[in-house]
Amino acid sequence: MSKFTKIISSGSYLPEKILTNKELESIVDTTDEWITERTGIKERRVSSDDETSVDMAYQASIDAINKSGLKKDEIGAIFLATCTPERKFPSTAVLLQNRLNIKNAFSVDLNAACTGFVYALDIAKKYIESKQVKYALVVGTEKITSLLDWTDRNTCVLFGDGAGAMIVGSSDTAGILSSTIGSDGSYKDLLTVNTDLEYIEMKGSDVFKTAVNTLGQLAKHTLELNNLEQGQLDWLVPHQANERIILAIAKKISLSHDKIIITVNKHGNTSAASIPLAFDDANTKNTFKSGDYIMMEAFGAGFTWGSILLRF
Ligand code: ACO
Repeated sequence: MSKFTKIISSGSYLPEKILTNKELESIVDTTDEWITERTGIKERRVSSDDETSVDMAYQASIDAINKSGLKKDEIGAIFLATCTPERKFPSTAVLLQNRLNIKNAFSVDLNAACTGFVYALDIAKKYIESKQVKYALVVGTEKITSLLDWTDRNTCVLFGDGAGAMIVGSSDTAGILSSTIGSDGSYKDLLTVNTDLEYIEMKGSDVFKTAVNTLGQLAKHTLELNNLEQGQLDWLVPHQANERIILAIAKKISLSHDKIIITVNKHGNTSAASIPLAFDDANTKNTFKSGDYIMMEAFGAGFTWGSILLRF
């Protein structure tokens, strides 16, 4: 068994089109002030009509592969998180594998809604540590705006499109220290895309409360699991759904605001893409230093949740 799974590189892609809160004011009955106060979101990206989750995943993956210094064919597996697949089947992961022209790998999609990337990384970790795979490509990609009812102000102001990717491999010195995932399907109707309507329906305040409680406990549990005091955490890279949720969780583990990576203001909620996008945003600025303790955590439809603690 390898000791750790290490993040070798990260990459990202955001569609060109920026949709600001001001522009949304002419689409639904809302205001920049309401959206900013309730969510922290100022703008989000919207993919073009012919741009799919595979197109975005491809761009983010190429970015991560180029930064890794690896050859594409060294990648043995692709774990791809999405709830907006390009086709019902074949999977988005297989379509990505084909676009990347990677031959000696297996590829699979995971749908855990906004927690998808944490699930994908958790599974990649298991394959790397058992040495069944040497290097894996882990991707979160979403064309989540395709699931929006643009007449519903409760949901359409919250989401955006994009993709993030990571290359992971084994290390004897540093990497993922713990990974915890969970789900409870009894909350299935609080946040859902019903197959008849095919757009997002959400009981926002119920989701908000459960997310804060679940993630607050999970963040504490993750620190305890790794024998870390609250002050020892260097960075929180949370799922970017709502700035108020993020700050409430940080408060529960006494984490100061300057240790939280926040991108929800410019990306909105990009579902499974939000953590790798936020991670890459910070990583590109060399925010993380060798030895830093970094926690990722996410909460999504299902409900699903998960956290990862890593030493950079
Ligand atoms: N503009 C103006 N007013 C609005 C808007 C809007 N865009 N949206 C809702 N309102 C109104 C509501 O109609 C309501 O009006 P009423 O009191 O007259 O009925 C009022 O604002 C307050 O609504 P609340 O739902 O109480 O507002 P809240 O403070 O809870 O904020 C929000 C709403 C932002 C949706 C919040 O509940 C939230 O962030 N919830 C969690 C969302 C989330 O995390 N979702 C993603 C999970 S991840 C995944 O898997 C996709």
